[in-house]
Amino acid sequence: MPKLDDRLKAVAVQIRSRVHADIGSDHGHLLKALLTSGRIERGIAIEVNQRPCENSRSTLVGLAADVRLADGLAGLSPGEADSLSICGMGGELITRILETHPERVPPDLVLQPNRRPDAVRRWALQAGFHLVDEQLVVGRLRYVVMRYRLDRSSADPAYDAMDHEAALLFGPLLIQRWESQLQGVLLDEYQYLKELQQRTEQSQHRLNVLAKLLRLKGLLD
Ligand SMILES: C[S@@+](CC[C@H](N)C(=O)[O-])C[C@H]1O[C@@H](n2cnc3c(N)ncnc32)[C@H](O)[C@@H]1O
Repeated sequence: MPKLDDRLKAVAVQIRSRVHADIGSDHGHLLKALLTSGRIERGIAIEVNQRPCENSRSTLVGLAADVRLADGLAGLSPGEADSLSICGMGGELITRILETHPERVPPDLVLQPNRRPDAVRRWALQAGFHLVDEQLVVGRLRYVVMRYRLDRSSADPAYDAMDHEAALLFGPLLIQRWESQLQGVLLDEYQYLKELQQRTEQSQHRLNVLAKLLRLKGLLD
C-alpha cells in the first residue's frame, strides 16, 4: 500500500468495507491506500482543521472520496458509513469523538490510540463493541491497533477469565496471545516503572497490575 508507515499499514489491513470514514484524516494517505488497493469502495475523510482538510482533498482528488471539514462525527450521517477509523490521537480524544454522537458510530471500527488505549477499551465495553483483533506495532514508538465490532448480545468474550485491570491496561487479546514482542515491551516497562524515583498514583497502579501479570505468566518471581 502506497505511502503508509508500519503503523498505518497495520491499520489498513484491518479495514475491508464498502463505505469507510476516516476521522482526523490529516494527509489522507490511509483512505488513498484503502481506495487504490480496493479494500473499500468509497471513503469519507473528516478533518476538524483547515490545512489537513486541504491536504486530504489534494491526496484524494480523482478518487471515490468525500472530504469534509467537521468536528468528528458531526461530519457523518447515521448509517452513512459501514466502518470508521480514528488513528494517531490520544485515547481520551478518540472516546470523546465516539461519545459525542453515539448514533452515528458505524458497527465496525479500527481505533489506534497513541496513548491511553485503556480509555478506548473502557469505552468499547460500555458501548457494546467486542474486540475482534488487537495488534501491537513496535517501532520508534509503540502503538496498539484495535478492531471492534458492535455486538450488544453478550459481554465481550475477550475479557473472559482475564485479570480485568491487566486486560484494560495491556490488551486482552495481546495478553492471550502472549507473544515474545509483548513480553519484551512489558518487561521493559516494568523495569522503567520500578526504577522511577517517584511514582504518580497512576504509574504505581500500572506497576502493581504489571507485576501481578508478569508473576502470573512466570516472568517474575
Ligand atoms: C496526529 S494527526 C493523525 C493523522 C492520521 N489519522 C494518522 O494517524 O496519521 C490527528 C489529526 O486529527 C485531526 N483531528 C483532531 N481532532 C479531530 C476531530 N474532533 N475531528 C476531526 N479531526 C480531528 C487533527 O486535525 C489532525 O489532522
